[in-house]
Amino acid sequence: MYHTSNPEPDTAIDRTVPEFPVAQLSDEDKYFNSYKPPSYLPRIEDEVRSFIEFHATTSGKPIALVTSGGTTVPLENNTVRFIDNFSAGTRGATSAENFLENGYAVIFLHREFSLLPYSRHYSHTTNCFLDYMTEANDKIEIKPNYAEKMLKVLRKYKDAKESRSLLLIPFTTVNQYLFTLKSVSELLHRVESKALFYLAAAVSDFFLPQSRTPQHKIQSQDGGGKLVVDLEQVPKFLSRLVENWAPSAMIISFKLETDDSILIKKAKTALQRYQHQLVIGNLLQTRKKEVVFVNSKGEEKWIRLTPEQVEENLEIESLIIPEVVQVHNQWINRK
Ligand code: PMT
Repeated sequence: MYHTSNPEPDTAIDRTVPEFPVAQLSDEDKYFNSYKPPSYLPRIEDEVRSFIEFHATTSGKPIALVTSGGTTVPLENNTVRFIDNFSAGTRGATSAENFLENGYAVIFLHREFSLLPYSRHYSHTTNCFLDYMTEANDKIEIKPNYAEKMLKVLRKYKDAKESRSLLLIPFTTVNQYLFTLKSVSELLHRVESKALFYLAAAVSDFFLPQSRTPQHKIQSQDGGGKLVVDLEQVPKFLSRLVENWAPSAMIISFKLETDDSILIKKAKTALQRYQHQLVIGNLLQTRKKEVVFVNSKGEEKWIRLTPEQVEENLEIESLIIPEVVQVHNQWINRK
């Protein structure tokens, strides 16, 4: 078992690693040449390879790569402090369940310890998992008011496990995320257009280059009582993904904004820049109730929960994924 939240033993500061240059043409390639992949990556590649092989040759299911949760930017090699973002992985974990229900196999590339498909219903809540249980005749039981829903979740979870349809792959830092995304994408080329990328992770836009990352915990007296952090831009990897890593796959990226007046424009700019198939736009404030699909023809389609659906606690991913599946089928069958 590997854990992504522990620092690599050999991440000692290496001043020979060149400083990452700002905004140039092939920043992505320079990134992968300058930084080291996580040491556990070959094991992940083995797992992913056999998962893809099984679904390509035996189940015949299309494969969705769902990315989920936020990446971190460590401020120290022996990481005590890091920069993070708000994403708990709700969109990714809920979408993964819906892909599974729609006949997909899912590679769930997620921030370690963020929400996971199925267990999300009982983790990260104000209830402790023990609150779902009770004692009766010296035995432990599920409380009757939770039992019906839990049985439904359990059946779906077991089905996903027994059919080998869900593969969980963790990351913590933005470096781990990028190297793992690259490897998984290249392996997914095996299934060509039956691969679907659903990039819901919140990826750091800035990072601290290795050459400037201190080995040990920053002391409060360092820097005269101030901490000044000078970050570089993370190269945009979407173009590499579209052009080189998985050129036959269908790729969906997300666009998160907080200002509604720029959401559509930013989604269209992303499509023009990266030349992929679909952007799903969402606003931080309303992301659980509405999203907008923007396609490469510039068409917009809003998907919204009705007030009744909100009242019934329907999750918007149960509307998003069937739409995505339809678009993916058109992509597979295009001539
Ligand atoms: O977890 P939840 O609370 O449910 O929140 C879900 C969400 C709001 C985080 C999710 O729905 C969402 O919008 N995720 C994408 C947020 C984001 O990082 O957007 P962005 O504008 O930074 O990136 C846009 C796209 O470019 C992303 O799909 C990303 O894969 C890609 N990207 C980003 C950075 C980078 N260096 N290279 C990239 O290719």
